[in-house]
Amino acid sequence: MTSPVRYDVTGEIAVITIANPPVNALGHAVRQGLWDAIDRFDADAQARIAIILGEGALFLGGADISEFGKPPKEPHLPDVCTHIERASKPVIAAVHGPALGGGCEVALGAHYRLAIKGARFGFPEVQLGLIPGAGGSQRMPRLTGVGPALDMMPAGGSVTADQALDIGLIDHLAEGDVHEQAMIYAKGLLADGVDVRRVGDLPCPAYDADAFDAARTLWTRKARGEVAPLTAIDAVEAATRLPFDEGIKEERRLFLSLMETPQRAGMIHAFFNDRKVSKLPELKGVAPREIASVGVIGGGTMGAGIATACLLAGLPVTLVERDEASAEKARATITGNLDAAVKRGKLKDAESTLTKLTTVTDYAALSDVDLAIEAVFEDMSVKHDVFTKLDAVMKPGAVLATNTSYLDVTEIAAATSRPADVIGLHFFSPAHVMKLLEIVVPDTTAPEVTATAFALAKRLKKTAVKAGVCDGFIGNRILATYRGAADRMILAGASPWEIDAAIKAFGLPMGPFEMGDLAGLDIGYMTRQRKAPDRDPRDIVPTWADAMYHNGWLGQKTGQGYYTYEGRKGTPNDAVKPLIDEARGDRPQLDFTPEMIQRRYMAAMVNEAAKVVGEGIAARPLDVDVTLLYGYGFPRWRGGPMHWADSVGLDALLNDIKDWAKDDPYFWQPAPLLEQLVAEGRTFSDLNEASA
Ligand code: NAI
Repeated sequence: MTSPVRYDVTGEIAVITIANPPVNALGHAVRQGLWDAIDRFDADAQARIAIILGEGALFLGGADISEFGKPPKEPHLPDVCTHIERASKPVIAAVHGPALGGGCEVALGAHYRLAIKGARFGFPEVQLGLIPGAGGSQRMPRLTGVGPALDMMPAGGSVTADQALDIGLIDHLAEGDVHEQAMIYAKGLLADGVDVRRVGDLPCPAYDADAFDAARTLWTRKARGEVAPLTAIDAVEAATRLPFDEGIKEERRLFLSLMETPQRAGMIHAFFNDRKVSKLPELKGVAPREIASVGVIGGGTMGAGIATACLLAGLPVTLVERDEASAEKARATITGNLDAAVKRGKLKDAESTLTKLTTVTDYAALSDVDLAIEAVFEDMSVKHDVFTKLDAVMKPGAVLATNTSYLDVTEIAAATSRPADVIGLHFFSPAHVMKLLEIVVPDTTAPEVTATAFALAKRLKKTAVKAGVCDGFIGNRILATYRGAADRMILAGASPWEIDAAIKAFGLPMGPFEMGDLAGLDIGYMTRQRKAPDRDPRDIVPTWADAMYHNGWLGQKTGQGYYTYEGRKGTPNDAVKPLIDEARGDRPQLDFTPEMIQRRYMAAMVNEAAKVVGEGIAARPLDVDVTLLYGYGFPRWRGGPMHWADSVGLDALLNDIKDWAKDDPYFWQPAPLLEQLVAEGRTFSDLNEASA
């Protein structure tokens, strides 16, 4: 087998080229190839300086994911980096594309670093529950000082080539062809008579107590229980205290301490799910329809966000509103969104993007769009009316989508003469920010329409999950159940504030009551009203929440809800307590610990999720995990609720559910799928694999 690493000599310059398509992953053959090339360079009397560069779009990728979970083969990456560093003659890393993770560490093993504009340097390891493990945490601070390393490593962040030059991570910035520029740079270094300059031989960076304190405070808050970001800070601190060789050993020790943890397993699970979620067997070989223009109907909260998302992806948008004033308002919201995107560096120029937006009040303007997304009021008769109009004006072959949160997409499709072209595209608010897109597929939808929806999601840089038709689809249906568990815990003795605190301690960004205050407590009230006619008499009604609505306590927007607000900062609203006491009546009260709260909340989530999978609303457990991760703030390091359930044991969860069912058999009905898996001794993970 030929090596993916080539060694060529031109004059006095050795060029070591890594060619391991598609992403120059640092698999065993590349590591061995780099090792051998350095040996050859050392022994090569003709070559006085070496360049390492990558062929293709990247300098060097990170670890080879096909080697995950297998015993590592020598040479290991830390040794390869040190081997490069120990070369007897100067070595240049010439970086033209992303050099992230292991790729960045190889570049740091070289003596000099040249970057072509457009290159990026970074350490994304924490996103997989790890820290840099091949010297990155020890070498980077020796070049840049601790500040930039503390900015980058706990965040899993990266910098541009310009920024890399500013912070001292690279030595030279150029424009043009990487090979050409590297040759010019190498000749210059030779002419200057430079020698090897080993980063590992540079002195320890200065210890800065304030910087470490600030980083630890920030990441204790931000990481919400995730350990890798704080471990990355420990590794950088080691660089300030220890000689290089010992620092490397400490980095290794910290790296290995993370390697076998449940958090690492959760991150890996989430990482692979990102790839699996859009791979649906029924869509294999199905070509999507071309989408070159989009219509959006309704320009309120969601419509304006969806239009923004499409514009950011370069798609022209025609937005239809009820009247001129609403159309103007929608345009103003979208303009504000685009301006904010420019400020965040996500968009170059708002003005030219806005030329792709047309706002109208006449549906006829949609006659030529390839896809229309409806985001009008959540009311079946309004949706019927809109889809009848869309059916009348849209061209044959166009896709008709609804952003409904709860309504029956099959019924909406039936309002048209072309149900095969109708699908649900359930965006999350704010639609131009949130990553999740639930693609709701009625039985009547044509496969290529589903494939088109997945292709659109990719274009919008969203993570798409296929969902079946039911009240709330995957995410909101499960949410309604764990919200129900929270209300039941209030009746049984836990306070809303204890519940919020316990759920945050589990790793979610907010508890359910804080979330309610943020979204507006009128939403929950309206949902209860909508469901009231079908409510089972055994169900409970959170009468205190209804009373809060009638008091006008709608959460943040009215200054009080479960919390009272000064700005966005809330403190528990004591006025809610008597309302809760009244609702509790003489029910027996339990003394809830945070663990008890977490257990019930999560069990409710998993039990409903198992029903969702069992009924085929979600194709696999992993679809639930992805939905909760990207739409509901479930901590990534826990992998997702189904992964969490496997890790605590399905039998133990089922026992709990059966136990609670003794008091509340209506709410705690075990999911048949959960019972079946426990009976068969199988896990959700087994189900994922069976469907692969
Ligand atoms: P909204 O009330 O902010 O906006 C609705 C807009 O539709 C208004 O601007 C209204 O003028 C316009 N509109 C009403 N009838 C129309 C018609 N016949 N033709 C053209 N425009 C019309 O509502 P929001 O929150 O944007 O919700 C829209 C849809 O998105 C609903 O189905 C909702 O369930 C769904 N949704 C809402 C989410 C949220 O967080 N707000 C999240 C996901 C989905």
